[in-house]
Amino acid sequence: MDAHHMTGDLDRVLLTEEQIMTRLQGLADEIWVDYHDRDLLLVGVLKGAVMVMSDLSRALPGSAPMDWMAISSYGSGTKSSGVVRILKDLDTDITGRDVLIVEDIVDSGLTLSWIQANLASRNAASVEICTLLRKPDAAKVPIDVKYVGFDIPNEFVVGYGLDYAEKYRNLRCVATLAPHVYE
Ligand code: PRP
Repeated sequence: MDAHHMTGDLDRVLLTEEQIMTRLQGLADEIWVDYHDRDLLLVGVLKGAVMVMSDLSRALPGSAPMDWMAISSYGSGTKSSGVVRILKDLDTDITGRDVLIVEDIVDSGLTLSWIQANLASRNAASVEICTLLRKPDAAKVPIDVKYVGFDIPNEFVVGYGLDYAEKYRNLRCVATLAPHVYE
């Protein structure tokens, strides 16, 4: 789905496909400088991270294994609570590995701070975070995110993996949702 397929639910394009791809290449280059001689494992968090993982991993100039987690956040509606249940755990033993969590967005930070602590408790050598998007104004817990694609305003965004009621994940760009949709 391209920007010109956007319907009345969507307000404006925040990041174009080209901006996203350029930034991901930059992040991949930075990551490779830091990890090329380490035991890197990319860990994606379903479902939002699939697009970022797909493009970021292919932008790396060398091989990197990947694994996936699926989690469910308890709490009301669309707000995450930080109380997390693992629906699908890693297939991989991460003892001694250099784990890089790959995410689409850090919003309140509650989910990522839980995942980071959970993975660190498994005796990984290191657990860092790479996210395409971060909303600094929505942060509820301090969280150290090593690689950030873009800091964005505290608006409801969809596309490039991010959904509203499971819609728009397959939009190539990142767009804001029109307030009338969720108000
Ligand atoms: C999104 C995103 C993060 C989380 C961030 O996932 O992928 O995991 O929310 O929010 P937080 O910083 O406020 O905790 P979501 O729960 O929407 O699931 P999805 O990836 O399946 O869309």
